[in-house]
Amino acid sequence: MVNRKALSALLAGAAVASAQCTIPTTPPPTTISDPFRAQVQNASRPEVHNKYLNLLEAGGGDRHLFIGPVGAPTYDLTLVDGVINHVPNGVRAVIGGEFSEVDHTTKLFMTGRGDDRAVFEPTYACNPDTDELQVELRFVTWQNQPTGGHICVRHAFDGSHEFRYSPPGNDLIDVDRECIKVTLVVIPTDPNNIPIPSTTLTTVTVPATTAPVATSTHAPGEDFADMTAAGWSFQGCAPEERWATDGPFRTLTGSMTGSDTMTNEACMAFCDGLGYAFAGTEWSRECWCGNTVAPTRQPATTLASLAACNYKCTGDANQNCGGDAWLSLYAKCPTGGPCENVVFV
Ligand SMILES: *[C@@H]1O[C@H](CO)[C@@H](O)[C@H](O)[C@H]1NC(C)=O
Repeated sequence: MVNRKALSALLAGAAVASAQCTIPTTPPPTTISDPFRAQVQNASRPEVHNKYLNLLEAGGGDRHLFIGPVGAPTYDLTLVDGVINHVPNGVRAVIGGEFSEVDHTTKLFMTGRGDDRAVFEPTYACNPDTDELQVELRFVTWQNQPTGGHICVRHAFDGSHEFRYSPPGNDLIDVDRECIKVTLVVIPTDPNNIPIPSTTLTTVTVPATTAPVATSTHAPGEDFADMTAAGWSFQGCAPEERWATDGPFRTLTGSMTGSDTMTNEACMAFCDGLGYAFAGTEWSRECWCGNTVAPTRQPATTLASLAACNYKCTGDANQNCGGDAWLSLYAKCPTGGPCENVVFV
């Protein structure tokens, strides 16, 4: 166990005390229970250097790992015996699946299932830019596989990079999307400056006395943001793949964005600007756009079905932005035509 204050003090002290980074003689512990962000470093590759690991919710409760703009910034990672954990979602970093023939890399992601873990060894090193002491997570092994290899990132979609494992001795390169070798670095989360962590929103409970839902503007049970003034009608609370059995695809497959200031207004404006027919908010901070909704992903029209979309928006605690793998789904109203929300009974 390493105490956050102790770790921060050690890092800060080392930076101040000497112009030259001094490596402590005792290595850092393999369990870091105070929250941190994971930074990616490769000083010769500015397109990825000093960027942070984001989590993107995927099917079955898994979380996929990206360097932005895809995914949610994550400030509450921990390390348990060398394995990166994200406790709020009950997931840990594993390697497996999506093997690429071209460059022989395999996906690194997070899951609660029993896949073979990625094992790291925390190691003190000097920051390549500032020469300050930092804790790096040196990749040791893919559990039950030979020791060695490294973690790399390669182009995915929407300008993001995804995380991959490259086995020992591998020198194959996909010329279309080279997997850039990176070092993962522990950046302790400043307890005095914690942005709204995406994950703790799942546990936000609002005291009954503050009654944040504007009952004066919603009929009883109609706990959704009315966007008809902006030309969008509320369709209901629509399931993502986790709650459906029709395949591993997103309910809205067009574009997506996420932010710490998400509102339904911001999401509708985003999807409107791209010309989409459907827009939906999810998991407090995500916005998804698409032009169709599969019959298997249509929301129910019961009042009870709205309960799954009760996550407060990161940008406005008085409105709901979907739920955990549930979309607050809106449809663009025809220009000049009627614009009415679905009636829930
Ligand atoms: C940066 O990435 C390149 C390409 O993968 C790799 O050859 C190099 O070793 C990396 N540098 C560091 C410091 O990891």
